[in-house]
Amino acid sequence: MRNAPQPLPHQRRRHVTSGSPARAQSIDDLRAMALRRLPRFSAEYLEGGAEEERALHGNRAAFDDYRLAPRILRDISSVDLSTNLFGRPMALPFGIGPTGFNGLLWPDGDRALAQAAAGAGVPFGQSTVSNATIAHIAAVPGLRHWFQLYCYGPDTVWQSLVDTAQQQGCEALVVTVDTPVIGNREWDRRNYAGPGRISLSAKVDTLFHPGWLWRTILQPGMPRFPNLEPFAPEGQRDLFGVAAWSSSNMRTEMDWAMLGRIRARWPGKLLIKGIQHVDDVRLAVDAGADGVVLSNHGGRQVDRAIAPLHLIAPARAAAGPDFALLVDSGFRRGADVVMALALGADAVLLGRATAYGLAAAGPAGAARALAILAEETRRAMQLLGVTRVADLSPAIFA
Ligand SMILES: Cc1cc2nc3c(=O)[nH]c(=O)nc-3n(C[C@H](O)[C@H](O)[C@H](O)COP(=O)(O)O)c2cc1C
Repeated sequence: MRNAPQPLPHQRRRHVTSGSPARAQSIDDLRAMALRRLPRFSAEYLEGGAEEERALHGNRAAFDDYRLAPRILRDISSVDLSTNLFGRPMALPFGIGPTGFNGLLWPDGDRALAQAAAGAGVPFGQSTVSNATIAHIAAVPGLRHWFQLYCYGPDTVWQSLVDTAQQQGCEALVVTVDTPVIGNREWDRRNYAGPGRISLSAKVDTLFHPGWLWRTILQPGMPRFPNLEPFAPEGQRDLFGVAAWSSSNMRTEMDWAMLGRIRARWPGKLLIKGIQHVDDVRLAVDAGADGVVLSNHGGRQVDRAIAPLHLIAPARAAAGPDFALLVDSGFRRGADVVMALALGADAVLLGRATAYGLAAAGPAGAARALAILAEETRRAMQLLGVTRVADLSPAIFA
């Protein structure tokens, strides 16, 4: 082994951690930039998973269960990354999924993500717990706007949100069903002295991130949850008041019958997000959904949950060829996207990948995340000898 090549010492290899987002070579670079800019408590909110983070790491490890078998000497001079979803073209086979509290990452963060999505010709899912009204996001020109629904409090709350989403022209309602209670996110809680009270050491840590503190909190003012604010009791409508109200008013009794009532009220496309069992794919079809998002919420809910990548092929077999099958959790590379499409997904949703870009550099960072993934997806397809999304199949695997 004397002549075995020595790896470059790890300390000599560095991610890009600052400067223009154009310098970021990968989503990992945007992540490094984000983690440098954010104070500890907001970095943890973005990064963390439930309990021992097995599901979080399992989402990435799942991609290692497949090996690719590139085909050569094929004309790959022209590649088409576009696809179709709900009968409409999508410029890229991925979109931005819903993440709450984006205002903690960048001022008006939801709008920044929506603008990046519109610029790239892909959908954006706005969370119920976003820091922008539905109308504010609907005003982004050219946006394919989806609204993600969490149900809190009485039926009148979800009914009102669904009606507003319809009035504002949202194409799809994404009903998230993997969060009947909030996952056990211990790492997140360690930064708090109590519900809604950041610990002293986490507060002190924010002072070491003055750029974030000024630009994200002090200058624009504390973010709010404007979609839920009208439903919280008087005097409990600031950020932490609404957070406390919503977490103590979760609809733990929500079931397929309630999903049926949402379906009956919502005339647009309906996606059920957070499906983790093939039997639930069948029930979603029976419930009249237009599609599902296979997701374990980025490892933030059930710590030993299956990686959604492993559910794609059985879900496709169960749902048939025409049912919209989306997937998220752990997607950081173009090759990841290619693998999901080859296994039978119609499209991928991005969670942290675009959120890292947002946290690193706002709208330009979010756009950079999409550009990196588009470039990587294109290159991965070329190296595999495939030029159209529709031609991706299990044949790409060894
Ligand atoms: C910071 C953060 C906030 C999230 N907020 C929501 C939310 O409000 N609604 C929702 O349906 N999913 C939410 N998710 C889950 C994402 O939609 C998505 O399922 C997950 O991020 C995918 O995993 P990935 O981050 O590894 O890509 C959130 C995820 C993160 C990381």
